[in-house]
Amino acid sequence: MTEEQLKKLLQDMSRKEKIGQLLQVTGGFYTGESILTGPVRESGITEEGVACAGSAIGLFGAEKYKEVQRDYMEKHPHKIPILVMLDVINGFKTIYPIPLAQGAAFEPKVAEDCARMAAKEAAVSGVHVTFSPMVDLVRDARWGRVMESTGEDAKLNSDYACAMVKGYQGDAVGEKDRIAACVKHFAGYGAPIAGREYNTVELSENTLRGYYFPAYEAAVKQGAEVVMTSFNTLGGIPSTGNKWLMRQVLRGEMGFDGVLISDWAAIEELIYHGYAEGREDAAKKALEAGVDIDMMTGVYISELEKLLDNGTVKEELLDEAVYRILGLKNKMGLFENPVKDADAEREKEIILCKEHRETARRAAEKSFVLLENDGILPLKKKEKIAFIGPFAEEKEIYGAWSMLAKPEDTVSVKEAAHNYADEFSFTFAKGAPVLGVSEWEIVPGYEGAGEKEAALAEEERLLQEAKELAALADKVVLLLGEHRRMSGEAASRTKLKLPQVQRRLLREIVKVNPEAVIVLFTGRPLDLSEEKELAKAMLTVWMPGTEGGAAIMRTLTGEVNPSGKLPMSFPRCVGQEPLNYNEYFTGRPYEDGCEERMYRSNYRDVQNSPLYPFGYGLSYTKFAYGEIELDKDSLTEKTSIRAEITVKNIGLYEGSETVQLYVQDCVGSVVRPKRELKAYEKISLAPGEEKRVSFIITEEMLRFCRADLSFGSEAGRFRVFIGGDSSAKKSKEFMLETE
Ligand code: BGC
Repeated sequence: MTEEQLKKLLQDMSRKEKIGQLLQVTGGFYTGESILTGPVRESGITEEGVACAGSAIGLFGAEKYKEVQRDYMEKHPHKIPILVMLDVINGFKTIYPIPLAQGAAFEPKVAEDCARMAAKEAAVSGVHVTFSPMVDLVRDARWGRVMESTGEDAKLNSDYACAMVKGYQGDAVGEKDRIAACVKHFAGYGAPIAGREYNTVELSENTLRGYYFPAYEAAVKQGAEVVMTSFNTLGGIPSTGNKWLMRQVLRGEMGFDGVLISDWAAIEELIYHGYAEGREDAAKKALEAGVDIDMMTGVYISELEKLLDNGTVKEELLDEAVYRILGLKNKMGLFENPVKDADAEREKEIILCKEHRETARRAAEKSFVLLENDGILPLKKKEKIAFIGPFAEEKEIYGAWSMLAKPEDTVSVKEAAHNYADEFSFTFAKGAPVLGVSEWEIVPGYEGAGEKEAALAEEERLLQEAKELAALADKVVLLLGEHRRMSGEAASRTKLKLPQVQRRLLREIVKVNPEAVIVLFTGRPLDLSEEKELAKAMLTVWMPGTEGGAAIMRTLTGEVNPSGKLPMSFPRCVGQEPLNYNEYFTGRPYEDGCEERMYRSNYRDVQNSPLYPFGYGLSYTKFAYGEIELDKDSLTEKTSIRAEITVKNIGLYEGSETVQLYVQDCVGSVVRPKRELKAYEKISLAPGEEKRVSFIITEEMLRFCRADLSFGSEAGRFRVFIGGDSSAKKSKEFMLETE
């Protein structure tokens, strides 16, 4: 449709139809799976509303979609197609590693590829928009949703945000096999106080602008078509009714002109926040803030008419929102072709196809982070290996959001191990359930082994069986971790240790066989201080997805050399949270190892540093870093500095290393972080090989949110660090000079 035609359509629509465009309901209302029960009606959603809702959430399957779209359009007075949205987070049916794991690859292209393939599977199944990427910056591992983020660093998150938007949308959402990206949750949702889900967020404007906004902005600039509001308040105002945030920052400063959708029921929640008097007030505040779509409440649909009639809300506000929604439908080509890419034949061909599975496997391999290794890994041929732990046969290794994933499509470690049966001798034992009897409540509905007494007896039996196997093996691989529902939405925790029952298993197993490796399944950083002492190697595999087992076996056997780096700091204990590498010095700086000194910014019982820092990850080989060389010792707005370093593989295996460059701005109009990631490059080196890695430092890299909240650099002294993680020691100073 041309712009004129679209405007004409808007003019021709009745007010009811227009308001309908702002409603989003579940797809189930169109397939008969959901019904208008009492509570749904109370929320204002009616048959009439459903009949003209502009979008649906959670509808998929080409045939089903086509049928729904046909029926819907037939009844729609202006034959406007319905837009279909879904949470395609780390994959549709082929499941890629969770976003936090993808962040660990330090290779945004990995996320782009995963997003492109996820888009294709979703598109052929009738989906138009995904509620991804989540680009919330996260510093607190107590918050369960850190698994959906790519971590604690603004630059890494921004790079990934762009890559994912590109992967989903390509050059244009109307193109074949593309879907629109919805960036979420604007803004600051990743910083709930105390890591408690849906809690208040208190961030200074400087921190918001300097650290939290950049990834959203990057995604918007990359062309993301949709943005989702966040549940939290900022400065006491819930995002969903925050005019400054949505109108001034998002639309004005960042230049977003796409569709803004509320998070699930967030418009109605303005009332519970105590920010809106009632439904009318909530509708008014959200629309005035510029929220176009009301996800899953009937606040807009039941209240807007009155507000427009009595002039409380201007008609232009409604028209503006509707026009944006129609605009997205038009960009997707739905008016001309409401079927878009939905195609049952292609669904069979594309979903879980070889290419997608291979990409999933490679992405998983790149995301694994080797935390410890005294040389016990990789496993050597002919060794007798006992695989012990609840994740040895587990197939639900795809993270909390993979609602369409099926265990039968997933490769477990045990299944993948069959391919190595000729070279190794493997035995398997579960050893323990994921959660012990005393901790079932962590996962609502967790299926323990029946009655508590019987479950306890089963725990003992599993442990004894595992100990016997461990005693007979050369090495033990302990596959431990979190249940997939221990991270994700509504999964905040105050304890960050592995479940007790699994820690007991670990302690008992190392008593009978200390040659122990831990393979850790997790959706968040954990406190691994005990595990570090007990195991000889530790490999974090996150929630690795459909091909997880294959990727793990290839890594354990040395076919693949781990190269992932932590996108979030791993704490020594939960009391350190929130924890991020780019903290400020404070007026009483503290160095690790000086605990005996009083009146410093430190804890009395634990070091300040994390157990494993941001950017950290080992390899089966070793890399030696030379000295940093700068081609000049100063730069200006017009000139740059080349920073170079030689990295050599001094170990026995070929491997990849992510060389990271951090900058410290020594003095600023606001205090500056100890260091900040500014660039990174992944290189591959054969044993004995060395490469010169060079980075260009520009004035642009040195810009930050200054005291007056403007972005810019400030002349003065800087320090550059280059190394394999955020604690890199090698450094050189340089100056930024004014022209
Ligand atoms: C989550 C969003 C998600 C939405 C729709 C909400 O509870 O916060 O991230 O996209 O549900 O499923």
